[in-house]
Amino acid sequence: MKSFEEIYEFSRMAEGNGTEAHPLCTATPEELKVFIPPVMALAEGSRVVEIGTYTGRSSSVYFQVQKDLNLDLHFIDCLYWNPKHAAHSFWDMVVDFFNEVPFTYHKMVTNLAASTWTLPIDFLYIDGWHDAPQVDEDFQNWIPFLKSGGVLALHDSTYPGVASCIDRFVKGAGFELIAEAERMSMWKKP
Ligand SMILES: C[S@@+](CC[C@H](N)C(=O)[O-])C[C@H]1O[C@@H](n2cnc3c(N)ncnc32)[C@H](O)[C@@H]1O
Repeated sequence: MKSFEEIYEFSRMAEGNGTEAHPLCTATPEELKVFIPPVMALAEGSRVVEIGTYTGRSSSVYFQVQKDLNLDLHFIDCLYWNPKHAAHSFWDMVVDFFNEVPFTYHKMVTNLAASTWTLPIDFLYIDGWHDAPQVDEDFQNWIPFLKSGGVLALHDSTYPGVASCIDRFVKGAGFELIAEAERMSMWKKP
């Protein structure tokens, strides 16, 4: 497996234009430092679900370890935000660097994906729409599929809609905070 430093160096530049920080949407370099280790620690065959993929910076972390860990990767994004830029950046990265990596891209709204989803999840990253009622629905629809002991990653944790969900569905459900940086928080399900 690549080292933490190697994964970090690639992912912090994974943004289509090669910019290091894009604080409005994607994981910042400091946030990647707490996001990468739990992904590297996943057991072989783990299932990852990412809600909100955008240009693929966070996806690039899983892509870099997929072969080593045989991860079952699922990305859900309806391409609401900056869609041409997001789509070009994501798929250019896939073709240029990860064309041998298998994954499933659910190009649809999260509620539609949830309506037919049945599989247990080991690592769930919720980073889609951040306002109620959609963010509430994402937490309510997807957290039940996360296994006990599974990791929940949350972006924009201090944004009001997300913070309210963290209080009710994460802290209120006894999740353990395992790491945080800037707007990223990482939790373990009891
Ligand atoms: C903050 S960005 C994701 C950033 C990405 N996780 C990263 O770190 O680079 C949010 C993404 O969620 C998508 N999105 C927003 N609401 C959605 C919904 N209801 N269903 C599916 N995707 C949604 C947007 O199209 C956007 O690409």
